[in-house]
Amino acid sequence: MVEASGPNAKEIAYWNGANGRKWVRFQESMDRMLQPLSRQAMEVAGIVEGQSVLDVGCGCGGTSLDLARRVGPGGSVTGIDISTEMLARAVARAAAEPDLPLRFLNADASVETWAEPRDHAFSRMGVMFFRDPVASFANIRSALKPGGRFTFVCWGNRARNPWRSIPMAVAERHIELPASAPPDEPGPFAFADGNRARQILTDAGFAEVRVEVLECDLLLGDTVEGAAEHAVQLGPLGNILREAPEDVQVRVADEMREAMTPYLRSDGVRLGASCWLATAAAP
Ligand SMILES: C[S@@+](CC[C@H](N)C(=O)[O-])C[C@H]1O[C@@H](n2cnc3c(N)ncnc32)[C@H](O)[C@@H]1O
Repeated sequence: MVEASGPNAKEIAYWNGANGRKWVRFQESMDRMLQPLSRQAMEVAGIVEGQSVLDVGCGCGGTSLDLARRVGPGGSVTGIDISTEMLARAVARAAAEPDLPLRFLNADASVETWAEPRDHAFSRMGVMFFRDPVASFANIRSALKPGGRFTFVCWGNRARNPWRSIPMAVAERHIELPASAPPDEPGPFAFADGNRARQILTDAGFAEVRVEVLECDLLLGDTVEGAAEHAVQLGPLGNILREAPEDVQVRVADEMREAMTPYLRSDGVRLGASCWLATAAAP
């Protein structure tokens, strides 16, 4: 287990607490929701057979498994994460495919020292939680061969993410929500300003920096009930509601189902998302 110390101490404690357990509980639906984004990012990254890849903030291992299938037996994938419980899920999933060239590291990507340089570093929503993002990205760069590529997907502009803003608006009618975190605070929307992500990559010594919009309609659940549960349980809203009185939780859950109903399609409840797809090269 990673000790909750150093600049990322708060995040290490956070991802090893109730939030990490929630990600394990919702692993299947989270992977279904986020896989279209990471698959597109893997295409853009040009990750192919035989390559070595570091999966930063790999969580329950969904992207690490996808990457390992992609690079095949001649390649290698290392998933790194600070959350012991999420990694335990990743290890269990990998055990079902023992021939994959995949291993996991329970460590802090900001400060880990790397045994051998790799062709790619990849991340799906795993790089917005560093207290010092420039130093952390420089450390990720040091994991790459010269010319190696770093590709990640992160959440974009809050206002263009109704999968988040609609549930927040429902909750706001019943409880006082804390003000949005300042832009330099670690958290899911730390790179909502794409220019900040560009600057951090540049300051960390990356070249060929590109940060482009990636949009899609996320599958929140197969049913209105499933999507509403997802919305009230996960992320910052889940943490706030957990502390709310029970009658408030019940009212928010009822209204969340109503709010999700217009978005039900033949293949489930879908809401729009706007992300950044960032790519950069290690000189
Ligand atoms: C939003 S979750 C995404 C998980 C996974 N990439 C996915 O898409 O399912 C963010 C992940 O980043 C991990 N994380 C946060 N800070 C980290 C750090 N400094 N080093 C390694 N992992 C970190 C968390 O433990 C968590 O698993």
